[in-house]
Amino acid sequence: MAKLLVTGGAGFIGSNFILYWLAHHPQDSIVNFDKLTYAGNLENLKDVQNNANYKFVRGDITNPEELDAAFIDIDIVVHFAAESHVDRSIKDPSPFIVTNVVGTQVLLDAALKKGIKKFHHISTDEVFGSLELDDKSKFSERTNYNPRSPYAASKAGSDYLVRAYFSTYNLPITITNCSNNFGPYQFPEKLIPLAITNILEEKKVPVYGDGLYARDWLYVEDHVRAIEAVLEKGKVGETYVVGGQTDEISNLDVVKKIIRILGKDESAIEFVKDRPGHDRKYAVDWTKIKDELGWKPKYDFDSWLEKTVEWYKDNQNWWKNVKDGEYQKYYEKQYSNS
Ligand code: NAD
Ligand code: DAU
Repeated sequence: MAKLLVTGGAGFIGSNFILYWLAHHPQDSIVNFDKLTYAGNLENLKDVQNNANYKFVRGDITNPEELDAAFIDIDIVVHFAAESHVDRSIKDPSPFIVTNVVGTQVLLDAALKKGIKKFHHISTDEVFGSLELDDKSKFSERTNYNPRSPYAASKAGSDYLVRAYFSTYNLPITITNCSNNFGPYQFPEKLIPLAITNILEEKKVPVYGDGLYARDWLYVEDHVRAIEAVLEKGKVGETYVVGGQTDEISNLDVVKKIIRILGKDESAIEFVKDRPGHDRKYAVDWTKIKDELGWKPKYDFDSWLEKTVEWYKDNQNWWKNVKDGEYQKYYEKQYSNS
């Protein structure tokens, strides 16, 4: 019977984690601590809102008093809260530094003060920088950090702080650096839900530059299962990189697959101006977590992309509500000079 404090639990991965954890660990309880920025949505959690083992607390990880009030008998912290969208970090880095760097440090202090048993930090493969398309190497726990966007730099800063609290204060930390997730409840500013929902709305799908950028795609439940493996069996102080089953799949191919699933034609694609400093390729070597903790991704890209498309078809109210006034303003600003 553990009590978890989950930060950012109203976002995409955090809400998938809470739904999974309460279903698979019914003896545990969860406090979901979330500021409810544009990316936080309690709709994601309506199936558990009346669960006696679940409680929502609205709060900001940069605020020590709000954290103090939420930190009652907590055993484990699972830290998802972050500003997460690269394009937004290019337009305005400051909220990324405030939440991802300062917020993580304030949270670490709170966790230290409360003497928690485990602090798990969710990070990204973007801290490792970019690979060339013809480079056959992959990111691993031994890869040097080389963050290239304000988002990636802020996540790298947070990773270093988490490690420093282990070395300096013995805070029992673990870290995962994960590749691109996809699945239900992902905010439609990210490539896959943006492509699906734009096509459903008969709009064009903006593809940056030549579209030949490559990502390693992981179904969100596989990420959640990796976090579960680390919480249950991970070694304190260690980092584990987490990735999916895709190999060298370009953004253009991802968009074409979505177009085919929805029975449309490729005239839906619109090439637009590139993202500044766009990382060419991410690829992840997840040997360590497989060998040491027995985790590997179980959901293949093509079948689960299809299921994800189905989810967005079946849940149009969910994404129509989030593609609202504020999102429209962001969208116009982001894609106006294309
Ligand atoms: P998201 O943007 O969907 O959700 C972020 C959540 O954090 C939201 O609910 C938001 O309200 C909350 N939040 C933001 N600032 C906060 C603050 N100051 N205090 C409290 N709550 C705050 O993000 P996501 O895609 O679910 O990503 C979750 C985590 O996983 C992030 O740390 C991200 O860096 C990391 N990650 C994401 C991916 C991915 O593909 N999405 C891959 C690897 C790592
Ligand atoms: O690698 C893990 C990271 O994956 C996470 O840490 C981030 O939180 C998450 O947002 C994601 O970052 P990316 O920048 O890779 O994801 P995004 O969905 O924004 O873009 C995926 C690729 O698609 C990238 O090469 C940029 C491109 N793209 C994106 C958008 C939004 C387009 O071509 N057109 C678009 O409109």
